[in-house]
Amino acid sequence: MKQPKIIIDTDPGIDDAMAILLAHLAPDIELIGLTTVFGNVPVAQATHNACILSDLMGGKVPVATGSAHPLNRENDRYPDFVHGKNGFGDTSMKPPITKAIEQGAVDFIIEQVSQSPGEITLVPIGPLTNIAKALEKAPEIASQVKEVVLMGGAATVNGNVNAAAEANMLSDPHAADRVFTTDWPITMVGLDVTHQIIMDEAYLDRVHQVDTPIGGFLRRIVQFYLDFHRSTGIDGLYTHDPTAIVYLLKPEIFTVRKGAVRVCTDGIAAGQTIMNLSGKPYLGTAWDGIPTSDACVDVDVTACLEWYADIMSGN
Ligand code: BDR
Ligand code: CA
Repeated sequence: MKQPKIIIDTDPGIDDAMAILLAHLAPDIELIGLTTVFGNVPVAQATHNACILSDLMGGKVPVATGSAHPLNRENDRYPDFVHGKNGFGDTSMKPPITKAIEQGAVDFIIEQVSQSPGEITLVPIGPLTNIAKALEKAPEIASQVKEVVLMGGAATVNGNVNAAAEANMLSDPHAADRVFTTDWPITMVGLDVTHQIIMDEAYLDRVHQVDTPIGGFLRRIVQFYLDFHRSTGIDGLYTHDPTAIVYLLKPEIFTVRKGAVRVCTDGIAAGQTIMNLSGKPYLGTAWDGIPTSDACVDVDVTACLEWYADIMSGN
């Protein structure tokens, strides 16, 4: 398989850090940039955190700052009870050496994709605002990307913020609907699979080796995320963002279904991803003529956890 070149669009975030460092350690991925977006933290903090991660990866991965707000409204609530106020579990950090580049996230995405048609995979693991803006500004990128593999949504299960919505979709439902109604190859790695993959404390202790810079960093910040999950009655953490990286390299361990996806933009179901799994065209409705997306609906959990452990321990 040809080495995927990826841009991770991210709101780091503890599981975002796990995903980004997993992509860095995975031998078959070329990580060409991090673009930031509000979500788990305000965008300035997301950029600061992405720069810390770039330092950990040797300072060579550029960081571009993106959107501070969703497309159609302000945003002033951040889930500090999940990721901490600083997004990294409120652990203290040295200020990063890496500085964000001058170019903004949307222009970075457009430039990279158009310079290498057919080669770049976009991996959004936060709200989809930057991606929707890039499509608005340069619609031709839809035919130039290799694929889009995103963490978010739910095809066959309930949401995690409420019964309808997963967090990344709810943070900017208008952007999400724009992304899913665009004709481009898109795979949703959503709660259908990420809620199946639970990392418990013994596993986290084993795979994040504290005597290495990356392992030590991750083991420190994941404790907060683990404690949040425990407070909700789960003995371990849900593996959201890293699962998008696993899918990139191990698609064969996932079961995928196809269908047109719309995202509800307001009302009590705002942020709900509704996939047409019926096989019917629903002529004359909001699903009529919408290109199909792929959604991961099942996963070989053991294979996924083994692969994560292998990559983290350098095997
Ligand atoms: C998603 O929401 C965020 O809290 C996580 O980083 C992940 O991207 C899970 O619903
Ligand atoms: Ca995220």
